[in-house]
Amino acid sequence: MKILVINGPNLDLLGKREPEVYGKKTLKEINDEIKNLAKEIGCEVEFSQSSYEGEIVEEIGKANGKFDGIIINPAAYTHTSIAIRDAISAVNIPTVEVHLSNIYSREDFRSKSLIAPAAKGQISGFGENSYFLALRALKWLLEK
Ligand code: DQA
Repeated sequence: MKILVINGPNLDLLGKREPEVYGKKTLKEINDEIKNLAKEIGCEVEFSQSSYEGEIVEEIGKANGKFDGIIINPAAYTHTSIAIRDAISAVNIPTVEVHLSNIYSREDFRSKSLIAPAAKGQISGFGENSYFLALRALKWLLEK
């Protein structure tokens, strides 16, 4: 079972970026923990991070036939990107949307996700645990 973990803009700054909102761990530390969990539960993970919408769209397109599932934190593109949503719908790979923060308890503009209707589900508000929960959820979905 191969899972692609995609992170969007500014998530490369985790650790330094608004730690009171997003926590103190770096993306590398979180990815290492995802990798450990993946090993423990028997799946393979690959990681990508980009600040460019088009690159994320291409990454999703290229995942077709290579990955069984996608975990994506589209970051600010969550609230703006029809292109990323369409890419997820186009490839038909089960996808879980994740957010470190609870997007429904913050500014109004964050409470609308354009991605959610194309995803199998969404996990929001549990810090880095959102990714771990997403991995377990995806594994469950793919085995169901
Ligand atoms: C985020 C929430 C988004 O609203 C924000 O633009 C981000 C991070 C999160 O993980 O909580 O960059 O996706």
